[in-house]
Amino acid sequence: MTTYNFDERIERKGTASYKWDQSEKLFSNKDVLPLWVADMDFPAPREVVEAIVERAKQGIYGYTVHTEGYYAAVKGWLSRRHGWEVQKEWILSTPGIVPALSMLVLALSEPGDGIILQSPVYYPFYEVIRKNGRTVVDNALILKDGRYEMDYELLEEQAKAGAKMLLLCSPHNPGGRVWTRKELERAGEICLRHNVLVVADEIHHDLVFKGHRHTPFASISPELADITVTCMAPSKTFNLAGLQAALTVIPNEELRTKYHRQLTTLSLHMESYFGLTAVESSYTYGEEWLEQLLEYVEGNLNLLIDYVSAHIPEITPIRPEGTYLAWLDCRAISEDPAELKKLMFEQAGVAFSEGSVFGKQGAGYLRVNLACPRAILQEALERFAKAVREREQ
Ligand SMILES: Cc1ncc(COP(=O)(O)O)c(C=O)c1O
Repeated sequence: MTTYNFDERIERKGTASYKWDQSEKLFSNKDVLPLWVADMDFPAPREVVEAIVERAKQGIYGYTVHTEGYYAAVKGWLSRRHGWEVQKEWILSTPGIVPALSMLVLALSEPGDGIILQSPVYYPFYEVIRKNGRTVVDNALILKDGRYEMDYELLEEQAKAGAKMLLLCSPHNPGGRVWTRKELERAGEICLRHNVLVVADEIHHDLVFKGHRHTPFASISPELADITVTCMAPSKTFNLAGLQAALTVIPNEELRTKYHRQLTTLSLHMESYFGLTAVESSYTYGEEWLEQLLEYVEGNLNLLIDYVSAHIPEITPIRPEGTYLAWLDCRAISEDPAELKKLMFEQAGVAFSEGSVFGKQGAGYLRVNLACPRAILQEALERFAKAVREREQ
């Protein structure tokens, strides 16, 4: 057994890192600790690194096709980890989930169509709807006793009124909910009743804390499989986002054909040379690493919750059931996004994600990326607490 040391701090500055090398540009402060974008500060599992190094040695980085090993790894992972049996033909790859969401909107809806999202939600959901000339239909989540719930009555109304598609975020970013089978079934019944297609973004599917279980939406019933496109990837799970290897699973042949046409039109149907290896090796060998990662991240979550309650009691954290992102209600500090940004970037020297980008009810919230060595999280919390105290004086 390999024991991974997630406490190790690895210098990422100067590596063309989206997270670590943009602080001056984005926050006018080159020294902020970045705990914003959902990218982890941990290396991928040993077997993945070795497989990529081995592949790099060949030196010829040509166009790449899928192998039987790739399909077997994806199918095996979904079966073992999520109890979902998928067929090889259902799997189509894409360079990323956001490009897939955008192509799915184009392929499976018409200009002007209403597309439902459940705010506050991962902000590119708004963009893939609006920038493709469709209309956002906001089925805002309800925060009840520190936990988000779906508004089924409103969903039924919106579906009845003609919305064409639901962009489901499962598990939910930034709310941290791992939707239960019952909740998904209830949403699914509404979609079936009113012919609403479901695009399920399940990129966080493997990142689920103890006591919770992810249910792939399409695995619930053949009827739901027939109206669902599932978007998934090993990129969040194993920190592989820069390799641009994501996939969609589409059991319905008609939907699959339409989406495939979109993919080939943009010539995005080929796999990346290293992405292929990353998918196959992580889904084949990654479980041991993932179990250790989840334990470590949950330790970070506990640290955050304890720290905040002891030192920044103005903050009410929403405890996530999955993802490595914590959503903090900071409205008692300020409901003004500009003020919270100033407090983070200028006064504290930390960069969490400012909440209003996820939807208007996110104003006054901050999202913290927990996937970093504990010492970084500790330091970021200390910096933020100090700035909050200084602001009060
Ligand atoms: C819900 C969700 N979907 C998609 C993505 C990004 O996917 P990709 O990098 O494959 O476009 C993220 C990244 O944080 C996410 O949280």
